[in-house]
Amino acid sequence: MFVNIKKKLKNEIENLIFHYRCHNVILDNVEIRGAKYIYCGKNSVIGSGSRLLCWDSYNGEKLEVKPRILIGKNFHATRNLSIQCARCIQIGDNVLVASNVLIIDYNHGMNPNTISYLDNPLELSCGVKIEDGVWIGESVIVLGGVTIGIKSIIGAGSVVTHNVPAYSIAAGNPAKVIKQYDFSRKEWI
Ligand SMILES: CC(C)(COP(=O)(O)OP(=O)(O)OC[C@H]1O[C@@H](n2cnc3c(N)ncnc32)[C@H](O)[C@@H]1OP(=O)(O)O)[C@@H](O)C(=O)NCCC(=O)NCCS
Repeated sequence: MFVNIKKKLKNEIENLIFHYRCHNVILDNVEIRGAKYIYCGKNSVIGSGSRLLCWDSYNGEKLEVKPRILIGKNFHATRNLSIQCARCIQIGDNVLVASNVLIIDYNHGMNPNTISYLDNPLELSCGVKIEDGVWIGESVIVLGGVTIGIKSIIGAGSVVTHNVPAYSIAAGNPAKVIKQYDFSRKEWI
């Protein structure tokens, strides 16, 4: 019981530090775990029901890497954003995220010879990078190891499993580039 109280107190102190560090960020009913690994830029809004989770241990084992969620300035997440991080999830400035989006950079180990997949160690990807000015549509999933380039758009309901180049529109499952911005014609082609 004493250990539980100590753990709860530690979480609350970390959350207080997070709120102090990110004093310009509007957090409406947001669950934070691993607050000491999370940085959020000024004038950002993280909508109701969102979760920012950094795992630094799993099944009691300390992870070898320290997870980091790094969010730039003017970030806007509508609601129910879930960012689950065991290595590094980096989001640039002026990124817009619609509702019900999941960004995750790990898998459970996939050895079937265990009672539950929970018994496997986590498998970490090399992280996720979402560059400046990206717009992520409604109900998108972004999986580990992916970079989404500057000003790209991800269509509603997409699952992003591979890199998306800058100034591209990608959609579908798995997400594929459907348009690219033509600077000479000033339109998406
Ligand atoms: C991706 C998006 C921006 C593309 O808009 P667009 O450039 O006008 O695209 P188009 O309507 O010309 O569609 C081009 C092709 O892509 C397909 N497509 C468009 N959006 C798609 C999506 N989300 N998933 C799968 N395919 C999609 C179209 O069916 C069309 O295919 P076709 O040529 O075989 O008919 C838009 O469809 C979208 O998903 N917007 C996100 C809406 C949203 O989440 N809003 C939240 C506000 S924060």
